[in-house]
Amino acid sequence: MAKSDEIFALARAAIERDHARVVSSVRCIMAGEADRSTLKPRLQRLLEGQNNRNPKPEDGIRLDNGLDKLVRMQSPSHNLAQVVLSDDMRMRVADLLTEQRYADALAAHNLHPRNQILLMGPPGTGKTVLAGAIAKDLGVPFLVVDYSSLISSYMGETGGKISRLLDGLAGQPCVLFLDEMETILAERSGNPERSDVGEQARIVSTLLLAMDRLDHRILFVGATNHPDMLDRAVRRRFDMEIDMPLATEDAVHALVKSLSARHPGLPIADFLSIQREGVASKDCLGRSLADLEREVLAKGREWVIEKIRRI
Ligand SMILES: Nc1ncnc2c1ncn2[C@@H]1O[C@H](COP(=O)(O)OP(=O)(O)OP(=O)(O)O)[C@@H](O)[C@H]1O
Ligand SMILES: [Mg+2]
Repeated sequence: MAKSDEIFALARAAIERDHARVVSSVRCIMAGEADRSTLKPRLQRLLEGQNNRNPKPEDGIRLDNGLDKLVRMQSPSHNLAQVVLSDDMRMRVADLLTEQRYADALAAHNLHPRNQILLMGPPGTGKTVLAGAIAKDLGVPFLVVDYSSLISSYMGETGGKISRLLDGLAGQPCVLFLDEMETILAERSGNPERSDVGEQARIVSTLLLAMDRLDHRILFVGATNHPDMLDRAVRRRFDMEIDMPLATEDAVHALVKSLSARHPGLPIADFLSIQREGVASKDCLGRSLADLEREVLAKGREWVIEKIRRI
């Protein structure tokens, strides 16, 4: 990579607060330095120093009393800049993050940051990546509720586990992500034929109580593909709903930008048949971003191998 590209990559990673990319850019610069370079050992010392200084988000979180069985700690795959969002959605997310950062100032006036968001939308529209990116931006652990451990084969246990989890995390800032909410939180009055209606009602009311007393430094992010199936009282409890849409013209362009940053050197726009004037092909619109990304990566792999074979 040319020096100017390396500096640009480093600056961008720093501005986007992508710590992992900052470190890899520094490593890239070091690799390009001659053995006699004085910059190389200085950068090396800097990296070693920050390893000891910067605690990782997951350091310091306690998952005792069986909480480690109910949640999995995940490393977010995207930073916020890489998540495709409309301007309006990005602004709403930014507001939410600002409130979290000013939680102490708000508390001085007996106010608290909004901390319960519901992400809605078809599969592959970025609900999970957005939740992770929020955690990354706040520098807090990203905890994903483990479904199989939550849904208990014993009647009445699931509700108890939900409150144990939310109470157990009190005082520990994190993003707690509950995916596929509709599968455990269907409408209470749902189908009377179902044998587990009583259990469903118990789960819903436990969650409502737990959400009411949730520590405000825990950002509770729920996700669903079927918001209409969610219990209305649960849905009303959320401070904010974000609708993740299928690909629009703007979203396709934003995805091209995001993928180009993550996969340098690939003609991503060509893979999606985006013409010179920048108009996205009709075939892209209305598809999930996950689907478009899969197609781009498949074409990218072919493109790289083809290019090498031609040499
Ligand atoms: N809005 C987006 N911005 C950036 N990448 C996206 C977006 N939506 C989807 N993707 C890509 O598609 C993949 C799948 O997205 P993700 O898992 O977040 O979808 P989801 O909405 O959580 O789907 P599901 O409902 O199936 O859980 C991601 O790893 C990401 O690479
Ligand atoms: Mg998901």
